[in-house]
Amino acid sequence: MVLKYSLPARFFHWATSLLIVAAWICVEFRGAIGPSLGMTLHKSIGVTLFVLVVARLIYRFVDAPPPLNIDMPDWQKKGAHLIHWLLYGLILAQPLSGFVMTQVAGYPLSFFGLFEIPVFISGSAELGQTLSFLHQEVIWNVLLGLIILHVGFALRHQLIKKDKLINRMW
Ligand code: HEM
Ligand code: HEM
Repeated sequence: MVLKYSLPARFFHWATSLLIVAAWICVEFRGAIGPSLGMTLHKSIGVTLFVLVVARLIYRFVDAPPPLNIDMPDWQKKGAHLIHWLLYGLILAQPLSGFVMTQVAGYPLSFFGLFEIPVFISGSAELGQTLSFLHQEVIWNVLLGLIILHVGFALRHQLIKKDKLINRMW
């Protein structure tokens, strides 16, 4: 029988995954949503993601994941582990780069229209441009590639190996 992640760990996994998709939808379809609303939602969702990922990591150190009792070669286990840690790094770096980039540009952030996060970080225009490039091109594309790999491997386990690995997180 597969050993499941705890309920809070599963909640964190699916909530953070959904927030990433939602942030992407808001920025990608901001033309249809309305540019101002689309960006407010994009940034607010991103900030929420950052807070949730920090909480998720703290929780992970307190309550470690269940052992992986599924028959697979050691290198695959190590590879999956590496991808997981890269994903953690990138889902922190993506919102952080976006946040600092808007701060440096001098824009306060309206958090879902509820309250305002004032500008408290300053920096040069070059720093802003670098962060914008990292946010929109580099980090995002690497993150997207790793998500595709991660989901692809999960589906391979489910549909080809049929070893119920997805049940660990479901
Ligand atoms: C879940 C976290 C986030 C993801 C996945 C994400 C993803 C993206 C992507 C893919 C783009 C490029 C969109 C395009 O090609 O048109 C983008 C643009 C942008 N993001 Fe984020 N982002 C996140 C969080 C944030 C946060 C927290 C902020 C700021 C507080 C932010 C601010 C921006 C801004 C200002 C742009 C540029 C929009 C433009 O003027 O074209 N993002 N983001
Ligand atoms: C934005 C999308 C996603 C991100 C960023 C993401 C991220 C992660 C991370 C960081 C872990 C490691 C958990 C830990 O050990 O602390 C993980 C585990 C897992 N994810 Fe995802 N995930 C995403 C989507 C999905 C989807 C769509 C599926 C299913 C089709 C999935 C299935 C799994 C499974 C089964 C595990 C447990 C792997 C194991 O312990 O062997 N994930 N995910």
